[in-house]
Amino acid sequence: IEIDDVERLLAEMTLDEKIGQLNLLAAGEGLVTGEQQQTSLAARLAAGQVGAIFGTKSLATARALQERALAGSRLKIPLFFAEDVIHGHRTVFPLNIALACSWDMGLIEATAAHAGAEAASEGLHHVFAPMIDVCRDPRWGRVAEGPGEDPLLASRIAVAATRGFQGADTGAPGRVAACLKHFVAYGAPESGRDYDNVSLSWEDILSIYLPPFRAGIDAGAASVMIAFNALNKVPMHANESLIEGWLRGQAGFDGLVVSDYTGVAELVEHGLGPAPVAVARALHGGVDMDMVGEDYLRELPLLARNGLDAPDAGFSLTADDIAALIDRACRRVLRFKKRLGLLDNPFRGLEGEPKALSRLAGRELARKAAARSAVLLKNDDVLPLNGTAKVALVGPFASDRANMLGTWAVSGRAEDVVPLDRAIEALTGLKPATSWGANIVDEPWLEQRLNVHGVTVMRDPRDMHAQLAEAVAAARAADVIVVAVGEAKEHAGESSSVLSPELPVSQKRLITALAAVEKPMVLVVFAGRPLAIGDIADKADAVIYAWHGGVAGPEGVADLLFGVASPSGRLAVTLPAHPGEAPQSYAREPTGRPDPGRFAKFRTGWLDLPDDRPSFPFGFGLGYGDVAYGQPALSSDQALSSEEVELVVTVTNRGPGEAVETVQLYASDPVARITRPGRWLIDFQQLTLASGESREISFRIRADQFSYPLAPSLEAAEWVRDPGLIRLHVGPNSRDTQTVGLTWLN
Ligand code: IFM
Repeated sequence: IEIDDVERLLAEMTLDEKIGQLNLLAAGEGLVTGEQQQTSLAARLAAGQVGAIFGTKSLATARALQERALAGSRLKIPLFFAEDVIHGHRTVFPLNIALACSWDMGLIEATAAHAGAEAASEGLHHVFAPMIDVCRDPRWGRVAEGPGEDPLLASRIAVAATRGFQGADTGAPGRVAACLKHFVAYGAPESGRDYDNVSLSWEDILSIYLPPFRAGIDAGAASVMIAFNALNKVPMHANESLIEGWLRGQAGFDGLVVSDYTGVAELVEHGLGPAPVAVARALHGGVDMDMVGEDYLRELPLLARNGLDAPDAGFSLTADDIAALIDRACRRVLRFKKRLGLLDNPFRGLEGEPKALSRLAGRELARKAAARSAVLLKNDDVLPLNGTAKVALVGPFASDRANMLGTWAVSGRAEDVVPLDRAIEALTGLKPATSWGANIVDEPWLEQRLNVHGVTVMRDPRDMHAQLAEAVAAARAADVIVVAVGEAKEHAGESSSVLSPELPVSQKRLITALAAVEKPMVLVVFAGRPLAIGDIADKADAVIYAWHGGVAGPEGVADLLFGVASPSGRLAVTLPAHPGEAPQSYAREPTGRPDPGRFAKFRTGWLDLPDDRPSFPFGFGLGYGDVAYGQPALSSDQALSSEEVELVVTVTNRGPGEAVETVQLYASDPVARITRPGRWLIDFQQLTLASGESREISFRIRADQFSYPLAPSLEAAEWVRDPGLIRLHVGPNSRDTQTVGLTWLN
């Protein structure tokens, strides 16, 4: 970055002008996820007290706001415009947790690139994405927005999405700056409650939650958003050792750090002190911009004059310290603007008519992404369906549009969705007999709560008996039953944690009633989180976990149902057998009393969880083909740490059609200095095999893939690696693998 003009500007700016640059305000047109902004945007702009705005809905609005900002700014410093472009913009793609299940980094990059280009065409420079919070708890609603449970998969997604948004140059036309969020460990709140505190070992923080941030930073991500949670007692908005120490120091991040919505003000609720202390701590901690709360704007002028001495909070800074911190934050904001090209041209990205983007290309990509993201969990010779089969399409999502968009689809439109009944008709020419059969939400009070989030959960006005009777009659008259069940879009997402991640009782009752009809039955689950479906998956002949698939979600499902596309999704997160198992991961560490193990009762586990209740492990997913794995082989079963070893395995498609296979490589370390994960993903490759094709897949194995942290604290962390045996497990998912041993000689 050419920074001369940044330094020149900084030298000319008054204290108030610098503080104004740290103020990030909402346009007031979008989703409100916290306390409302207190002041009028127009007044702030006129006074030169705004650094950036998020949530504008059109190019014209952004342009008008930029004109006002320039008029109010003595030095003509432009705003940048940001937005939550989480899984698509105008074209809504599947939820991020769904996209993660594609394990297809090219696809994820393409969806981010398309979303970024749509956002840029509406005058946006910055997107609050990708969300890369590793999450192992299905109760947490924001699992919907994230990359799933695994740090390696999340890291690759962080890279793919960052590249998709930014390309080689964030300031180029059609490109936007990415924002890695939420820093850090927001996905591990106590009991799955959103915003709640997080207690984790530093070993877990370093090896599970930080790697996706490191990967995104290495890929050049221009900004980072701070998480709402406290981590090991220190709220992240005041966490200097993680923000300035790890993020900037160790990971080498040199971009912009923004707070989350009123995150600075919330330090008061966290108990760190009154507003002046909260502000001083956040600024000192490394939070450059203050979103919505305006506490920087209110408190910093006085702090910069008098300094802060707060013995009760154990925190003091001199006036000079504070002035220097304001300079530091302002410099970072200006550099970010420079990188966006805005200091050279304040109307960069705001000129002219919105660039026409191919809506068709977006839709095609969305349809492909939906088919690639859905996971086939079970198929007892039912799928794909014959196009002439008489289909009874039952369940509350059979004709649904709005919920298909999923959470955080702030610029999506329900009318763009082709619902499942129409998608099936368009594909086969046959209209399925459609029936409701159950409700999306059973409890009226819960429906009320969801309505507060701006969702209208459609309810069948008839009583349950009438609904069920009609559904059963439709099923009896059909050759095959497709049951569209799941959860409402805002049932997952921000502030949508649940105690029981499972289907509502009425939907379970519907599935039980339909199973009694004894016709082939396919369950399609539209959800934003991993639901425990073990008790009902058994009742169906086939199960597709379709997530909330975006504008073309149902069309992608129809493609899979009728074999136009072959399923290739693999779970990015474990589907638990029972809702009470949360949190859960394939990678959890072994105990001294494993389950299954030597003891019938005195073992780790749950007394009331039946042994045969199906769960679906990380990495799992079926296809229509028949892909077989040969015996994996190592180029050598011993090596020095300076050497690379090659692992090869032959994969053969014995099925009649093309198959997309994701070959997964896991490791385990039977003897180490601390307890290591049961197994962990170290690499994967995705390939497309023609019918009858065999391919030899090769993985390079390096010693550094086996190092792990010993960390009594963040500062004292040390990465170590031991000589000796490690095991490598290759296969189509985290459970069904073949193992070879490799010994590191040093
Ligand atoms: O970007 C989001 C964040 O993920 C949650 N709080 C609100 C922000 C801005 O909308």
